[in-house]
Amino acid sequence: MDRPDQSLELNPLYARPGEATQIPAHRLPAGSMLPQTAYAIVHDEAMLDGNARLNLATFVTTWMEDDARRLYAETVDKNMIDKDEYPMTAEIENRCWRILADLWHAPHPDRAIGTSTTGSSEACMLAGLAMKRKWRRRQDGTDRPSDRPNLVMSSAVQVCWEKFCNYFDVEPRYVPITMEHPTLDAHMLEHFVDENTIGVVAIMGVTYTGRYEPVAQIAAALDAIAARRDGVDVPIHVDGASGAMIAPFLQPDLAWDFRIPRVVSINTSGHKYGLVYPGVGWVVWRDKSYLPDDLVFKVSYLGGDMPTLALNFSRPGSQVLLQYYLFLRLGFEGYTKIHRASLDVAQHLARGIGAMEQFTLWNDASDIPVFAWSLNPQKRRTWSLYDLSGRLRMHGWLVPAYSMPDNLSSLIVQRIVVRAGFSRELADRLLENIREETAYLDSLTTPTKPPKRRRSGFSH
Ligand SMILES: Cc1ncc(COP(=O)(O)O)c(C=O)c1O
Repeated sequence: MDRPDQSLELNPLYARPGEATQIPAHRLPAGSMLPQTAYAIVHDEAMLDGNARLNLATFVTTWMEDDARRLYAETVDKNMIDKDEYPMTAEIENRCWRILADLWHAPHPDRAIGTSTTGSSEACMLAGLAMKRKWRRRQDGTDRPSDRPNLVMSSAVQVCWEKFCNYFDVEPRYVPITMEHPTLDAHMLEHFVDENTIGVVAIMGVTYTGRYEPVAQIAAALDAIAARRDGVDVPIHVDGASGAMIAPFLQPDLAWDFRIPRVVSINTSGHKYGLVYPGVGWVVWRDKSYLPDDLVFKVSYLGGDMPTLALNFSRPGSQVLLQYYLFLRLGFEGYTKIHRASLDVAQHLARGIGAMEQFTLWNDASDIPVFAWSLNPQKRRTWSLYDLSGRLRMHGWLVPAYSMPDNLSSLIVQRIVVRAGFSRELADRLLENIREETAYLDSLTTPTKPPKRRRSGFSH
C-alpha cells in the first residue's frame, strides 16, 4: 500500500492503442483513458472491500431502496451551502430538523433551532462550541476565570469528543467506566464537575456496547449539585448518534430528550438509524438562547444573505433530501417497524451468543440493536476474541473485537451492530459460523499467537 512506485496493471481486455497499460497508483497519470476503462479499474478495486451486507461493525447505512437511489442520483449535484440557489433544499433541511425537534419533545418547537451536518462528529463539535461559548459568556459576567473550560463525559465516549476537546482547547474530564458503573451515571459526578464545566455529555447508545446512559439520572444529579454549589449549573448535551433515532420509536416512554429541562442540545447521525447513506448528521438546540448568535455566520453569497452554522462550507445536499424522503416514506410507523425488526434480530443473536458457554454478554441489545460480549472469565482459553474475529472474516463476516476504554481496558469485547435488512436467516447463519469457529478454536492444543499490533477495523 505504501510503495511509492506502485502501479496498477490494466486488464488486457481494456488495453487500447495509445493508452497506458500500467497506471501509477500515487501519481496523476500523464494521459487520459476512456470512461469505461477508468470505471472498470475503480469498480474492480472497490470490489475488494468487505461485503456491506456482512459488515456488522458499522452503524452506517449500507442499503437504500431504489427510489431513494434514484433521488440520490438526481440530486448529487446539489451543494448544501448554496441556499440561495437551492432554496427548496434549504427549506427541506429546515423541515427535517424541525421534525427532529418535535420528535425529541422540544417544549416550544418554534423556539428550537437546528442544522444538518456531515455527521454526528460535526454536530457534536457545534454543540460543544455552543456550550463553551455560553459558559464563557456566563463567566465573563463574574469574577470567575473563563480560560479553563472542561467537559465531563464517560471514558467510553466516541473519539469525536476527544477531538472536540483537542481542537477547541477544552479539558476533557473522563469518568472511567467500571464493572459496577458500565456507563456514565450519577456516580462520582460531583467530583468531576465544577464552575468551569461547560457541559456533561450523555450518550444514547454508547459506541462500544450500544447501551443508553441514564440521562434523567445524570440530570437529577446535576440538579442536586446546582442546588448545593454556587455557579455549578451544568447543561447536558445528549450524543444520540444512534439512539436518538431509535428511542423515540422503540422506547417512547423513556425520557432522555428535551423532556428533561437540563438537556440543551441533541445530535444524531442521519446516516445511522436515520437510515440515510453516509454523509448526514443533525444537531438541534431546545431553544435559540442556547446557541450564541456569534456562532451563526450570515454569509452574503451570490446575492443571498444566508445564515450558516457549520464547520464545513460546501457539502452534499442530497443526503438531506434523502432524509426527508425517508421521513415521508416511513413516517413514525415505518421507522418503528424497521427498528423493531432490527432489535428483534439483535436480541435473537444476543440470546444465541449468550447461551454459549464460551461467552459472557456485556448487554442484551435491549436499548439499540447493538450488543457486545466477552470471553467467559470462568473458563481459561487458549484463544482470544481477536482470533474469533479473524476466523469469522474467512466467512465474510466483519465482527470487530477491541478493548474497552478506561478503567476496563484489559477487557476485550466483540460487538455486533444490526442494521435494517439484516435478516433472521443471516443471523442464524452467523450463529452457526460462530459455533463452528469457537469449536475449532477450542480444539487447538497450543495457544494462538497474539499478533504484535492489534488491528481493529476502526477506532472509537
Ligand atoms: C456515540 C457516537 N457519537 C458520535 C459518533 C460519530 O458519528 P459520525 O460517524 O456520524 O460522525 C459516533 C459514531 O459511531 C457515535 O457512536
